[in-house]
Amino acid sequence: MEWRTRITEMLGCRYPIIQGAFGGFGRSDMAAPVSEAGGFGIITATALNKPEKLRRDLRKARSMTDKPFGVNLSLIGHPHIDELRQVAIEERVAAIFTSAYKAEEHGRRIREAGIPWIHKAGTVKHAQAAERHGADAVVIVGIEGEGEKAALHLSTMTTISMATKVLSIPVIASGGIGDGRTFLAALAMGAEGVYMGTAFMATKECPIAERHKRALVKASPYDPELRNKVFAPPPEGLDELTRQQAVWKLVGDAKPHSTKRPMPVMSGSMAVGAINEIVTVKELIERIISEAEDLLTGSGPLGRILAAKGQPPYQ
Ligand SMILES: Cc1cc2nc3c(=O)[nH]c(=O)nc-3n(C[C@H](O)[C@H](O)[C@H](O)COP(=O)(O)O)c2cc1C
Repeated sequence: MEWRTRITEMLGCRYPIIQGAFGGFGRSDMAAPVSEAGGFGIITATALNKPEKLRRDLRKARSMTDKPFGVNLSLIGHPHIDELRQVAIEERVAAIFTSAYKAEEHGRRIREAGIPWIHKAGTVKHAQAAERHGADAVVIVGIEGEGEKAALHLSTMTTISMATKVLSIPVIASGGIGDGRTFLAALAMGAEGVYMGTAFMATKECPIAERHKRALVKASPYDPELRNKVFAPPPEGLDELTRQQAVWKLVGDAKPHSTKRPMPVMSGSMAVGAINEIVTVKELIERIISEAEDLLTGSGPLGRILAAKGQPPYQ
């Protein structure tokens, strides 16, 4: 089956599956294998911290795969963010993703350089603002996802279904996605791709400690610690700090999740419900695709409905 959408066309990847940004460890060792496996890998500029380190890592990624990959710029007040953006442009990555606030000026420069600009938002309103500012696509993360929450955050299902009705640019769904079922549900809601963080953390290539990966396999979305963290409203003052792009002052000194250091809090999202095993990124992507294809062609409800209509259009 071909999984072509406006997003695969824009990014030049085989499957509409994007690996999310990871402050701390979102480097080439994660992104290149994702792209090589047919997804779209992202290198998180702030994880490299210095412009020249980012340039080296982008070149390393290019030596690991001839498939396209992108860069995330997390706009949280990093002191070198403009130079990081410039390096990503000079190295001609396939797309630049921005997250957090005040992305317009970055977006304008990225598009002027002829590179697609994709902004990550949490609500329909913020996604519409990104569209007005010229974004080529948006990632929308529902409340089930990992990451900072806006005060008005809603579930992935509610947000994506609403967003795809009012936006003209393609929407990429995120938050709690990690298997063929959630992937297909996102496309059914009108999204043209998915963007996954937590699910990619439980892969062999992810450079975090094995015990953290095992914890993700063991974790349940019903675990009170995880639920409370994921569904918590933003800490007081964080929204304002983000608006001022001053969050880097809080997180900038934090060391990346290494194989030695413990993660401060259980990182991850409701996507742990989809994680049963530590696999390679290729296995993860292929499992998602084959589960989705089985759902469309097999003996489950969707497969039966499509079969009853005669030859599905994709055969
Ligand atoms: C450990 C970790 C670190 C993250 N760091 C960043 C970051 O620096 N910038 C950013 O935009 N998103 C960051 N995210 C959010 C992801 O890019 C993505 O939006 C989120 O994980 C999607 O939800 P999911 O985990 O349910 O797939 C991080 C996520 C995790 C799990």
